[in-house]
Amino acid sequence: MLRVGVVGFGFMGRMHFRCWDARDDARVVAVCDANPNIKEDTKRAVGNIDGAASAIDFRGIELFTDFDTMIEQAGLDAISLTLPTYLHAEFSERALSRGVNVLCEKPMALTVADCERMIAAADKSGKILQIGHCLRFWPEYAKAKELVDRGEYGKVVAATFQRLGAPPGWSLDNWFVDEQRSGGVALDLHIHDTDYVQYLLGMPKAVCSHGAKGAQGQLIHIVTQYIYGDDQVVTAEGGWGMMPGFGFEMSFNLVLEKATIVYDLTREPVLRVCPAEGEVFTPEVAKDDGYVRQIEHFARAVQGQAVPEVITLAQSRDSVKIVAAERRSVDTHEPVLVN
Ligand SMILES: NC(=O)c1ccc[n+]([C@@H]2O[C@H](COP(=O)([O-])OP(=O)(O)OC[C@H]3O[C@@H](n4cnc5c(N)ncnc54)[C@H](O)[C@@H]3O)[C@@H](O)[C@H]2O)c1
Repeated sequence: MLRVGVVGFGFMGRMHFRCWDARDDARVVAVCDANPNIKEDTKRAVGNIDGAASAIDFRGIELFTDFDTMIEQAGLDAISLTLPTYLHAEFSERALSRGVNVLCEKPMALTVADCERMIAAADKSGKILQIGHCLRFWPEYAKAKELVDRGEYGKVVAATFQRLGAPPGWSLDNWFVDEQRSGGVALDLHIHDTDYVQYLLGMPKAVCSHGAKGAQGQLIHIVTQYIYGDDQVVTAEGGWGMMPGFGFEMSFNLVLEKATIVYDLTREPVLRVCPAEGEVFTPEVAKDDGYVRQIEHFARAVQGQAVPEVITLAQSRDSVKIVAAERRSVDTHEPVLVN
């Protein structure tokens, strides 16, 4: 039975808690949050999608406000590191150096240099560090990747991705709106699609991005073209400047030589494959969501079981690198080479 700690018990902490809590081979035995009223706080609604646990039975779970005390006292095999982004590098290093496996939320860190520090810490510890790029495990995105890799519909000619919502407003100290702590919309939200583009098509040679800024001068909307040096057209749009009534939407269109694959949360069925020949169909996808499936992957790896290579630390770092190039492109109004 894996002994698990959840560090940072806001939106994602409660999301990871729900996933761990459903497992037979693991138990959340510790929760660490700087907020001393965290039990009371779990009655507050957080996040922009369903799934974060709210009615939590804290019996058998030790609560800590100090991370080092938790690591020292709780006898943990693994933690879900669901802290604000600016703390990912430091806390990952601290856990790994004490022999604890880490599932750290995305983005890996604010800078490529911090990602390198984390990779070095994982190498040195011999423990597992996995970054929570949940889209790679999201059933419809995973299915699209499988269909593309299988090759029967030919190559990807064009692809568009969208991820749009209102500004994240659930955090008590509103750290999301501070680009120094969250990386802003590009690194926090849009990186989901950047990372998936990398997963599907590899590293782009260059990016060309345009951005819109809010009243305080911070980026609130970004559109990027990922340049692969041939006739492929690949774009992703991410924005958190939508008005509250909009909710949250994510979608993609993949145009292959012999099929179009469409995912759109606002349509039914949400996933459709439109082949050049034959009927439109909806392929069967995994039942669980991407959060459950990424924790399954991590838990199995920690227990020494063989897992497919869905995500590596180098790829997680490279997604931060691509987004950094996107930010430079927004500022310079020029395409920017990624390496
Ligand atoms: N994968 C996804 O779909 C997804 C969605 C949202 C957020 N995220 C990522 O998850 C991470 C957390 O985001 P969130 O929405 O859960 O934020 P949040 O603000 O809701 O939660 C963060 C929690 O960390 C606690 N905290 C802050 N500093 C601490 C410290 N030093 N020690 C202990 N606790 C501390 C806060 O009190 C808060 O409860 C971010 O990196 C974010 O980018 C991922």
